[in-house]
Amino acid sequence: MKSETNISKKHVADLLIAGRARDPGPGGHGRAPANIALCKYWGKRDEAINLPLTPSLSVALGELGAETVLEPIDAADDIFILNGAEVDMRCEAARRVVEYLDLFRPVGLRLRVDSRSSIPLAAGLASSASGFAALALALDDLFGWRLEHRALSIMARLGSGSACRSLYKGFAEWLAGERTDGMDSYAVPLADEWPAFRIALLEISVAPKEIGSRAAMRRTVATSELYRRWPARVAGDIAAIRAGIANRDLEQVGTTAEGNALAMHATMIDSRPAILYWKPESVAAMEQIWKLRAAGLKVFFTMDAGPNLKLIYEEGQSAEVRRHFPGLREVAPFGF
Ligand code: DP6
Repeated sequence: MKSETNISKKHVADLLIAGRARDPGPGGHGRAPANIALCKYWGKRDEAINLPLTPSLSVALGELGAETVLEPIDAADDIFILNGAEVDMRCEAARRVVEYLDLFRPVGLRLRVDSRSSIPLAAGLASSASGFAALALALDDLFGWRLEHRALSIMARLGSGSACRSLYKGFAEWLAGERTDGMDSYAVPLADEWPAFRIALLEISVAPKEIGSRAAMRRTVATSELYRRWPARVAGDIAAIRAGIANRDLEQVGTTAEGNALAMHATMIDSRPAILYWKPESVAAMEQIWKLRAAGLKVFFTMDAGPNLKLIYEEGQSAEVRRHFPGLREVAPFGF
């Protein structure tokens, strides 16, 4: 299924900023929302430059996201500050940031990276999407490149696949693309605004995962027989979600997004060794949602590579949904 080439991130980075200045200004700033996929990105056709096997479609989380300030420093090493605390440069997160900066900066330039995330860390949400999108925007600002959205999306994708969808407000679709250099694999915003649309974070567990999404994705593609059906499934689901959004049809968007997430988890369960992110409380929450739906409440869920749920509903159901799930963190993606 995979079509790995030996194109490197560095090669793509050079293509993106070809002919542009590499002299930094005094500082750079970037801000990007987190996003939740309604039709999931699961599986890569090229791991080196994060090219997906399928398209995906997401909604941005409004004001929840990351904000990053970059400043050149006269020092031997970079400094990485996350939510006000200095991060040990030997840890995995810092290593990924340094590796990412190295793709774009001139040799020898050291930076102070000051990043803030407004995503409740307790919600156990991956913050890499908004983090890398904010970092891409901050680099663009630091060097004064003024790259267009397509290039910025590709740039963010090099940090983390789902980051390419974090440049826009509202709904965005990541076009899978066909080229081996991935220059046609980027996200575009959907024009639709849906002010009543709500997505809410239901925290089940914040315990560290046994397997990260990157490794889980790799194992699924390599070992799951069910995964062979995934591209066809995505083709149908993404079309249904797009049409559902255009018609503001919550039932269609909700049932399709929920089914898509469950199908993604089914491919994980079908992997060898099996991958199961669900906790008993995740299953209990799913059952509660199905029960509420049977009783007439229009609420749906999606899940990513973890035990937490994200609930999907409309403004009119907000009070009732929150009554059943106290502690929900509700987001109005178009209401800010
Ligand atoms: C389940 O974008 O974190 O959240 O490209 O390896 O960085 P990498 O993966 P990442 O995977 C996200 C997977 C997902 C589904 C989605 O957001 O579409």
